[in-house]
Amino acid sequence: MPDQNIAGGAGIRTERVQVTLSDIERVGPGTLNGRYMRRFWHPVFHAADLEVGHVKPIRILGEDFVVYRGESGKPQVTGPRCPHRNMSLVPSWIEGDTIRCFYHGWRFDPSGQCVEQPAEKNAFCDKIRIPSYPTREYLGLIFAYLGEGEPPEFPRYPAFEGEDVVTHTDSYTRACGFFNNMENAGDLSHIAFAHRDAAVSWDEMTDGPKLSPVESDWGVEAHAVRPSGRRNIHQIGFPNVYHTRGVPDDVAVPYREFIGWWVPHDDDRHTQFTVVVKSKADAEQLEAYHKRRNEMYARHDIDREALAKDILAGRKRLQDVDPSRVHMIFLQDDIAQAGVGPIAGRPRENLGRGDAVVILYRRIWMRELAKFANGEPVKDWRYDPAVIKVHADFR
Ligand code: FES
Ligand SMILES: [Fe+2]
Repeated sequence: MPDQNIAGGAGIRTERVQVTLSDIERVGPGTLNGRYMRRFWHPVFHAADLEVGHVKPIRILGEDFVVYRGESGKPQVTGPRCPHRNMSLVPSWIEGDTIRCFYHGWRFDPSGQCVEQPAEKNAFCDKIRIPSYPTREYLGLIFAYLGEGEPPEFPRYPAFEGEDVVTHTDSYTRACGFFNNMENAGDLSHIAFAHRDAAVSWDEMTDGPKLSPVESDWGVEAHAVRPSGRRNIHQIGFPNVYHTRGVPDDVAVPYREFIGWWVPHDDDRHTQFTVVVKSKADAEQLEAYHKRRNEMYARHDIDREALAKDILAGRKRLQDVDPSRVHMIFLQDDIAQAGVGPIAGRPRENLGRGDAVVILYRRIWMRELAKFANGEPVKDWRYDPAVIKVHADFR
C-alpha cells in the first residue's frame, strides 16, 4: 500500500509517489531519473579529442548539446542550436571564447548570452540566449553540469591527480542502458563464465567470493573475500561512478587503478568514461606499455557493437572470434550487458547471494529516487579519499 498523508487544510489525501526499478533506466529530460541524474557533474567528452576552435555534437541523458573549445583553451558545453533559425551550432565559428553561428553570424559568449546579430540594425541581443552549462576539464575529461541552478561542488579524486602518477583514458561506448553496466561492476561471479578465456587473475569457479556490500558515504563499498583469503574492495559512487583496482593487463605494469563514470547517451546507450592510473611503473616502462597498448588497439579492426549484435542474434559465435582483432573483455561485457535487456524487459529474475551488490544498488537507487520524487531531501554523496579505499589481491 502506498503511504498516504494529509496535504493542506482542506484535508485532501495525496498518495506518496511510487517509483519502480525501470524508472532508473529512463534518463531523458523531464523523467524522474533524468532530473535526478542532472543534479551531478558528468564527464561528457575526452579532452584530447577537442582541439582549440573545434565544436563537437554530444548526446547526454537523452538530450543534444555541443561542446567547443575556445581560443583560451577553455571548453564550453551549450545547447545544440541557434535560436535565430534553428541552425545546428556544430559548424560554428569560434572567436575568442565565443561561438558564432555558421548561418547568419549571431554570436554567443560562454554564458550563452547573444552578443552580436550582424544583420539587425536594431539588435535585440539582450533578449536572446542559448543554454550554457558549467563546464570543467579534469583528468583528461570534460565535465558538465546539465541540471538547473547552481552546480554542486566539483568532486575531485586525488589518487588520479598526483605528479607522480600517469593517467590515460580508456573509455568505451556500449549499446545498453548505463545501469546494466553498473550492475555488472558489482557482479563478480560473471567473470569465470562471461570472461572464461580471458587472462584475468581470478578463479571464480573454485575461489568464488563471499560478497558483503555496505552502504558508504559515497555509495556502496563492496567487499569480497575468497576461500583462498584474497580480498577485493571496490567502490561505487552514486549515482554512476566506479572506483576499483583493475586486473593487471600488462606484464611490465602491474599496478592499475581506475575510476569510471557510466554516462547515458540515451536510455539504451552509454559511455563508460574511464581514467586509469599507473603509479608503480617508471617512465620507460610506461612508454613501452603505451606502445604495446596502441599496437594492440591498431589491430582491432572489427566493429565490436555489430559483432555483439550478431552474437546475440545467433548469427555468429563468440568462440569463432579472432581475439587479436577485437577487445575480447569489452566484447564479452557487451554481450552480457546487452543480453539481459532493459530492466523493464526482465519480468522475472531470481537473484541469489551472488547478486548481493546488485540488490543493494537497486535498493539505494529506489530509496533515493522515491525521496526525490516526493520532494524529500536526498542523500548528499561524498567522496572522501581518506575513507573510500580500494583493494585487490591478485595472484
Ligand atoms: S540561424 Fe543562426 S544566425 Fe541565423
Ligand atoms: Fe565483465
